[in-house]
Amino acid sequence: MAASTESYYLGFDFSTQQLKVVAVDGNLNVVHQANVQFDSELPEFRTQGGVHIHADRLTVTSPVLMWVKALDLGLGKMKNAGFDFSRVRALSGSGQQHGSVYWKKGTNQVLRDLDPGKSLHELLQNRFTVPDSPVWMDSSTTEQCLHLESAMGGPQRVADITGSRAYERFTGSQIAKVNEYSPMQYQEAERISLVSSFAASLLLGQYAAIDYCDGSGMNLMDIFSKQWDESCLLATAPELKEKLGTTVPSSTVLGPVSAYHVNRYGFPEDCKVVAFTGDNPGSLAGMRLQEGDIAVSLGTSDTVFLWIKEPRPTVEGHIFCNPVDGTSYMALLCYKNGSLTRERIRNECAGGSWEVFSSVLKSTPIGNNGNMGIYFDSVEITPPAVGVHRYNNENKKVAGFPAQEEIRALVEGQFLAKRYHAEKLGYKIIPGTRVLATGGASSNKEILQVLSDVFNAPVYTIDVANSACLGCAYRALHGLVAESGVSFAEAVRKAPEPQLSVSPTPGAKKLLFYSPPPPPPQGRRCSQCGGELQ
Ligand code: ADP
Ligand code: XUL
Repeated sequence: MAASTESYYLGFDFSTQQLKVVAVDGNLNVVHQANVQFDSELPEFRTQGGVHIHADRLTVTSPVLMWVKALDLGLGKMKNAGFDFSRVRALSGSGQQHGSVYWKKGTNQVLRDLDPGKSLHELLQNRFTVPDSPVWMDSSTTEQCLHLESAMGGPQRVADITGSRAYERFTGSQIAKVNEYSPMQYQEAERISLVSSFAASLLLGQYAAIDYCDGSGMNLMDIFSKQWDESCLLATAPELKEKLGTTVPSSTVLGPVSAYHVNRYGFPEDCKVVAFTGDNPGSLAGMRLQEGDIAVSLGTSDTVFLWIKEPRPTVEGHIFCNPVDGTSYMALLCYKNGSLTRERIRNECAGGSWEVFSSVLKSTPIGNNGNMGIYFDSVEITPPAVGVHRYNNENKKVAGFPAQEEIRALVEGQFLAKRYHAEKLGYKIIPGTRVLATGGASSNKEILQVLSDVFNAPVYTIDVANSACLGCAYRALHGLVAESGVSFAEAVRKAPEPQLSVSPTPGAKKLLFYSPPPPPPQGRRCSQCGGELQ
């Protein structure tokens, strides 16, 4: 099928603070954008940053009807702006990962029979057994995580199967908590969706399946067989398999958009809904990551996405099925001590100036004469540790470095950690590997030069504001041709290319002190057959 420039493809992103929608044409040019800010545009739900933080400070939820109303509002805004829904050939989307939605018995039928004269918000009042959905910011389920890990034989074992050790924010422990503390609400739920599959259901007019990729963020799915793992289900809650439905490849066409949207907004009857996925996987698609590439987002916190062929799950970081290639995986690493720590050192050692900070990076030697530092101002996620630790070229712990050494030690240390964790998860630098940098600090070429030297690979920058919903508009287009064997890369070859920013300094590889990660642990599973490796 040749993508017609007359056709549009829609990508939705149900993120923590807002709903975003982007439309692209067949040449992948953005033709329309809309968004709905939850706090300011839906004040009746009284959220802050899109969530309710409960009295224990650990429980964090979002009202599910707020997301429903945001879709009414977002589509309404597009209609008022004259957006021509009749051109939309396919749509897809993403959601904040890990959050869960609990549909009341009978709602599948309600979704099929929606009256186009009414808003979704009116029609779906009281259709959820848990009106406030647990979301990824929740960290109240330590007990349930410990239970899962002990039932399964330890954290590494859970990671070997599901791609991650048990995490508080992952859906399995959240479901276990609902079952434990609100058993009626659990029992009365006919279907449990992720935020992504919930959002897809609203557009499809029936319960939408969970895709392999977002399903990997639940501690319930075997990332190798891509099926629910019976022992994880058993350790989580009773009769869970029926409530979760089946899992599908991320490029699956789930069906046509519901008659409700055809009648209310003028979507064509044959507009296809492609499975929704998580927001980080959506961003991977938006950045058009390829095998061997690594994406480094240097925002408030630092995030790393990787395209992996042979994953080695560990207790640090996450392995998800790949959202755009059924035979690959993606890894996700989150670091809390990113830009805020760089800002602190800039303030203390460079008089608060990024220019001075950058000129120090330019004038100091690669490898910092063997001086290294680890700077965890607040408790880090990867690994869970805190404190500042400096080592001199004799590997002795020291209390401080001169300002210039401190700056280089920080930036080299941050990127060496990313490379180390990435390789531990199975990432390999291959010929042609690109580092794709985004986020606020990617505007700093000297920081990017250190990144390039540590990874021994060229660094490209890409302007990907709204990368998750853009990636899902691309996924919608790909979904139409995926079955006929067209790869994602081929389907989106017309999208804007990342720009080369810096290349590795010759000889940098020898100057950077770098220990490769240890060999993979025993008892792993084979990525081909899912069997135990000896
Ligand atoms: P968010 O995660 O909130 O989307 P951004 O991607 O906008 O954040 O990144 C914001 C961060 O970018 C700031 O905290 C700041 O430290 C960093 N930043 C901005 N400009 C520079 C620069 N020239 N050099 C290094 N860091 C920068
Ligand atoms: C990823 C994670 C967050 C959410 C919200 O594991 O918890 O990035 O997806 O965006």
